[in-house]
Amino acid sequence: MPALAQEHLKKESAQTAELIEIKEFKAKNGSIFLGDCLKTMQQLPENSITLAFTSPPYLNAINYEEHVEKLQGKKERWERKEVSYSEYRDFLVYRFKELLRITKPGGYNVVNIAPVGWNGTRVALPFHFVSWMESIGWKFCEDIIWEKPVAKDRRSGVLLQHPYPGYYYPSLVSEYVFVFQKPAEKEKTENIYWHRSKEEKERNRIDLKDYQGEMSKNVWKIRQVAPQETIHPCAFPVELASRIIKFYSYKDDVVVDIFAGSGQTLLAAEMQGRKFIGMDTQKEYVDYALEKIKKVEGQKKLTD
Ligand SMILES: C[S@@+](CC[C@H](N)C(=O)[O-])C[C@H]1O[C@@H](n2cnc3c(N)ncnc32)[C@H](O)[C@@H]1O
Repeated sequence: MPALAQEHLKKESAQTAELIEIKEFKAKNGSIFLGDCLKTMQQLPENSITLAFTSPPYLNAINYEEHVEKLQGKKERWERKEVSYSEYRDFLVYRFKELLRITKPGGYNVVNIAPVGWNGTRVALPFHFVSWMESIGWKFCEDIIWEKPVAKDRRSGVLLQHPYPGYYYPSLVSEYVFVFQKPAEKEKTENIYWHRSKEEKERNRIDLKDYQGEMSKNVWKIRQVAPQETIHPCAFPVELASRIIKFYSYKDDVVVDIFAGSGQTLLAAEMQGRKFIGMDTQKEYVDYALEKIKKVEGQKKLTD
């Protein structure tokens, strides 16, 4: 890692340690920690989780503190934050490095990410992100495309107004879902997927009914969450999290979302009988996620 980045990270981790108190909110099968995920992960043991699924915050695009203040009626609108791309890279690198430490050998880290606008330019964040992850030790495994049926932007209108070469701006209907794995030094003895008993495998057998079609390919069409369905500005669909959890974890495994937001990963984990750990800096989102999870817990109790 470049010296500048290391310097910044040292500073940041010192600030984090000083300023942020972590608070745990418990549910029956897991917890959500309020605070910086870096500090939370630092308190978790090495090799303790099986799977992570998350979508990282776009710190230049959404100011989550101010979004929450708007939700609470304290602000009319939220302002963007000034964050440089290298600061953002360092923010992510440091956190995903800590995630690598707490992941069991062979465990997976799945990240939903898309190109992003930075100072008026469209930045190839997903492609940079893959090389950042590889440089800290994650092994790249899969690139899944999440295709959304409806675009939020009107980019394709540009060519309608200027029907000439050089005006092609397709509407953006896809995001990436990248799958990384923590390498296991001794594949057979360390990799957690090699040690599942026959009984455990049978209990977790995947229903091949749906696998014949879309799910056997790396483009998944899933409807995005509509703004009126959630309080969060960028929640991903529970269906997306459910597929990842089904393909990469067993029942009772610990599934983590280090940027949990409205708790879609945690909810999917609860619904599929996994343990979960969520982390987020915003109390409003943590409360909202817990409420959703407790509802599912209640429904499960009724059907038991
Ligand atoms: C892209 S959103 C995740 C949305 C989530 N996937 C969902 O479906 O609701 C990123 C989240 O990261 C949280 N966040 C930002 N900085 C953080 C940090 N240092 N530690 C933990 N969470 C953080 C934000 O509050 C935001 O909720």
